[in-house]
Amino acid sequence: MDNRPQWGTRTGFILAAAGSAVGLGNIWRFPAVAYENGGGAFLIPYLFALLTAGIPLLVMEFTIGHKYRGSSPLSFARLNKKVEWLGWWQVGISFVIATYYAIIIAWAMSYTVFSFDLSWGSDPESFLYGTHLQLTEQEGQFGGMNYSVLIPLAIVWIVVLGILIKGIKKGIEIANKIFLPTLVVLFLIIVIRALTLDGAIEGLNAFFTPNWETITSGKVWVAAYGQIFFSLSIGFAIMVTYSSYLPKKSDITNNAFITAFFNSGFELLAGIGVFSVLGFMAMQQGVDISEVVKGGVGLAFVVFPQIINEFPAFNQFFGVLFFLSLVLAGLTSLISIVETFVAGIQDKFHVSRTKAVAVGGGLAAVFSLLYATKGGLYFLDVIDYFINNLGVALAGLVEVIAIGWIFRQLHSLQNHANGVSDILLGVWWKLCLLFITPLVLGYMMFENIRQNLS
Ligand code: PHE
Repeated sequence: MDNRPQWGTRTGFILAAAGSAVGLGNIWRFPAVAYENGGGAFLIPYLFALLTAGIPLLVMEFTIGHKYRGSSPLSFARLNKKVEWLGWWQVGISFVIATYYAIIIAWAMSYTVFSFDLSWGSDPESFLYGTHLQLTEQEGQFGGMNYSVLIPLAIVWIVVLGILIKGIKKGIEIANKIFLPTLVVLFLIIVIRALTLDGAIEGLNAFFTPNWETITSGKVWVAAYGQIFFSLSIGFAIMVTYSSYLPKKSDITNNAFITAFFNSGFELLAGIGVFSVLGFMAMQQGVDISEVVKGGVGLAFVVFPQIINEFPAFNQFFGVLFFLSLVLAGLTSLISIVETFVAGIQDKFHVSRTKAVAVGGGLAAVFSLLYATKGGLYFLDVIDYFINNLGVALAGLVEVIAIGWIFRQLHSLQNHANGVSDILLGVWWKLCLLFITPLVLGYMMFENIRQNLS
């Protein structure tokens, strides 16, 4: 049990955990979710969700990994043989996410190259759906490969699997030590430039002006919790796996706080950057900002190219910075997602790391080809919807109920964390995990099912 690999440094672990957390969700999900759910007023449910669910669960997952020293299935099995399946389920969700995360990074990679000559021309929307994804009609049907994405997709997998084969210290840790600081620098340049554009202030006003009425709506709270879970990568086996490589003497609670604040800080920065450029674009087009706000694929691959077209100077440079940021943010998350099943396979079948990477990563790579078909984008939307709306809340809910109520492990986890950490966990931690989190997650599930049925 004790020849488990370890992180080389504390910073390495924190960068890896933060690298997993900071991803596409921060850049393209958060700004749109915040805007749609009350703008500035969203920050209140968001902070509440961070403090009552995000950080407590992150601490819990770090503690489970550190205490039981295994991938998510092994850690849960050691906690109680009856919950090993929970670990595999989380690994399964991660597997599905990995397949579509890879293709999005591949598109971002293509767009980094397209930025050099602004290949998308004056109509980025037709370029994305027609030329690039080769969809003939918006409905999209399966059929035929979209060959143009195969090369970037192959590069994504070669890079990720190559890093994973190198192991924890020499692979994941070094990659994050390079990618994450680079991402922060690139992103800061983008944000500073964005803030100095005409219209940036209007954008920020739209983003931060609170719509207080929304704060009483259940939907907004559900959105805040959903964002925190996705953004902090909790409930996906990731944080358990990463913390299983921590040395015995590690300050778990403090690490969790640093990771969470880093992630939210980046998220806020992304919101500021995105809304500054949206304000600029709305001003250029003489429209209201609500007409240009989008999230997801539409924001990154349609709205951003349009904005880059209208940039006063250095358009290409700005395009490269933006898409490269997406690539880096995505890669550090994808590495963590794939590591969950690599570690799971290794712990279960006692095979070498290389074999586990070849089998687990290889399978994910093959499945990711599904989205490289001509209707792939629509397929991606459907999968993403289910993962976000059902997968995330359900996995988190089952986890807190199993640990807090069924196996009553919170007390021993609390002792374990307090034994190694400076910040001591008190009753608030247990209250959050026993009551607040399950209630909110239960409500989320209920609302989602109700909405799906109606
Ligand atoms: N946390 C990452 C983000 O914000 C996404 C992610 C989700 C990564 C789930 C791993 C698992 O984009």
